[in-house]
Amino acid sequence: MQKLIINGGKRLHGELSLQGSKNSALPVMAAALLCEDTVELTNCPVLTDVYSASRILNHLGCQCSFSGSRAVISAGSVTKTEIPEELMREMRSSIMFMGAMLGRTGECTVSIPGGCELGPRPIDMHLAAMRKMGIDIRESMGRIICHAPSGRAKGARISLAFPSVGATENILLCAVTAEGDTVINNAAREPEICDLCGFLRSCGAEIKGDGESRIVIKGKNKLHGCTYRIMPDRIAGATYLSMTAAAGGEMILTNACVQEMEPFISVLEQTGCSISAKGDTIYLRSGARLRSVKERIRTMPHPGFPTDAQAVLMAALTKADGTSIFEENIFDCRYRHSEALIKMGADIQVLGKVAVVKGVPSLHGAACEATDLRGGAAMVCAALAAEGRSVITKISHIDRGYEKIEEAVRTLGGDIVRV
Ligand code: EPU
Repeated sequence: MQKLIINGGKRLHGELSLQGSKNSALPVMAAALLCEDTVELTNCPVLTDVYSASRILNHLGCQCSFSGSRAVISAGSVTKTEIPEELMREMRSSIMFMGAMLGRTGECTVSIPGGCELGPRPIDMHLAAMRKMGIDIRESMGRIICHAPSGRAKGARISLAFPSVGATENILLCAVTAEGDTVINNAAREPEICDLCGFLRSCGAEIKGDGESRIVIKGKNKLHGCTYRIMPDRIAGATYLSMTAAAGGEMILTNACVQEMEPFISVLEQTGCSISAKGDTIYLRSGARLRSVKERIRTMPHPGFPTDAQAVLMAALTKADGTSIFEENIFDCRYRHSEALIKMGADIQVLGKVAVVKGVPSLHGAACEATDLRGGAAMVCAALAAEGRSVITKISHIDRGYEKIEEAVRTLGGDIVRV
């Protein structure tokens, strides 16, 4: 099993080009199933989750090839409609293939998806929406067997109880080729939803209102292929900015999505870092010591503060002057990284959905296990800010979402190796 060895306590300095977005690439890869023609994706991140998506596509009879950050997917012939449990378990986004398969063939058999353990992650809203779209769903021995009695899903008016990112994406995937119009009320407004819609529109879909709470989709008979550039990864961006903020130093982040990162940047700025942006480039300078964030950091659906950036910002604030308070409102169990940070000397108290982080003068290196994707990235962040050597194991969690994290950190001058 691989691990990361980090010698912390050094200021970071350098220029980094941001990777493409994982949470955009995965639903877009599922969406490629809707096109009989070839789809070419650029700026596609090289990640284990992306390979998991390609294994599902291959299993279903599609061809998927990669060359650097370019992916080519040919879904000309879909030969299977069932996704085995072991492929479903590899990641949360495997559930996106439900909407896409229903859109393409009117049937599919899936099971509960895997993904990071962040508390219960049900798919009740996905299933209720599919049922509203006329899909017959039967659950048997862990399998979820879905089919459209008329061979095609039907447009529907769907109101989500919560603006779930995954449910919004699944509905979009099923609705773009459904019979009639679909309206999603209380839709998620995350930038990755807009990127998926941008891709679907490039394939000929008719969608209005993405980025807002009400999305309207006009069902089409068929979609065509396209070439599409995946948006930059705002969470990986938040992670590398947090690392430099925590360790001190300065960095330039290029190929960034500045506007989409604003909810994060506006909070990070309160720590005293100097942050400016021009075009798709962000410049950050972090002085000797960060200030704590005075207002409570509440994770919320976009455009609120992103839950995916909570752990890395927490790592940066462990050494700030004063106390910062986090409130995690999206997932029930998303503070699992706090134990590793405490092991490095941080003062964190978790009480239900609140975490109180009292800044300490210094952190020290420690051995820790990545608990989940963003939690693992937070450990790297804290290790870079800590004096001495840290060893992080179970880094397969980190590889699911960060493209060669050690190379990116080395570009910034960090002392990190993978062994
Ligand atoms: N929820 C339900 N029922 C559902 C769907 C969701 O109760 O049918 C609940 C979840 O349990 C959770 C909340 O609603 O408490 C939000 O879940 P959502 O569906 O919005 O999230 P997701 O689609 O499972 C995506 C990202 C996550 C990110 C969240 C929130 C992908 C592959 N995953 O998850 O990313 O945290 O949206 O923004 O896009 C990550 O990248 O590390 C990650 C976990």
